[in-house]
Amino acid sequence: MAKVAIVTGGTRGIGEAISVALKEHGMTVAANYCGNDDRARDFTERTGIPAYKWDVADFDGCQEGAAKVAADLGPVDVLVNNAGITRDGVLMKMDYKAWKEVIDTNLGGCFNMAKAVFPGMRDRGWGRIINIGSVNGQAGQYGQVNYAAAKSGIHGFTKALAQEGAKFGVTVNAIAPGYIDTDMVAAVPADVLAKIVARVPVGRLGQAHEIARGVAFLCSEDGSFITGSTLSINGGQHMY
Ligand SMILES: NC(=O)c1ccc[n+]([C@@H]2O[C@H](COP(=O)([O-])OP(=O)(O)OC[C@H]3O[C@@H](n4cnc5c(N)ncnc54)[C@H](OP(=O)(O)O)[C@@H]3O)[C@@H](O)[C@H]2O)c1
Repeated sequence: MAKVAIVTGGTRGIGEAISVALKEHGMTVAANYCGNDDRARDFTERTGIPAYKWDVADFDGCQEGAAKVAADLGPVDVLVNNAGITRDGVLMKMDYKAWKEVIDTNLGGCFNMAKAVFPGMRDRGWGRIINIGSVNGQAGQYGQVNYAAAKSGIHGFTKALAQEGAKFGVTVNAIAPGYIDTDMVAAVPADVLAKIVARVPVGRLGQAHEIARGVAFLCSEDGSFITGSTLSINGGQHMY
């Protein structure tokens, strides 16, 4: 039977590439999104992968969304916690809303979704959870105390949940991308981005499929002895 995977934020950017890669690896994929209906419709038309709308920051919404996916496609074997947002600004200018939205979405979303699917994976003796962190969670980044804290938290969350899942066949890993050519990075001012790229040893932005391949590997049987780890895919920007 094909494994069933949920990819949060799976209709655009890195998440889209992950959804497609997992489908290519024979999985039945459900791509979650939150607001952009047009992009989700276009994604489903191009890929044949169904899109499901809920907000990962909403605990009850995640339980209901995951239950709907399981009812439509079968028990969930793979969860990729990819949904993420930025609300950048230096601490002096960052308001509480910008702090809370980023923590609730990027880090809270991982908890909310894991609560929905981890018990079933544990009971069935097999599961894969991949959390998308960030180089900025490893190294910090000026103007991103909210994002860096959330992503850094993802790395701790990963190591803790990996210990809870290990003896039940559930691996939990993180991927820490560097700067990847998506809508999120398109929002960075061009002069700032040029300075960032100049500090990347390979001298370019990454491509979404370069993250997706890492996810597919960690989900595969070849990855079954890897748990609690963080795979950095960042062109050498930060060697952790
Ligand atoms: N791009 C980079 O350079 C980079 C680097 C390091 C880490 N990352 C991380 O990689 C992940 C994907 O980034 P990206 O660049 O592909 O982002 P993106 O292009 O902005 O796409 C974000 C995706 O997440 C969804 N999303 C946002 N908030 C959500 C919510 N509350 N509930 C459900 N879905 C939500 C969006 O749905 P809608 O279409 O409905 O808005 C969209 O599908 C993020 O966690 C990001 O922090 C990215």
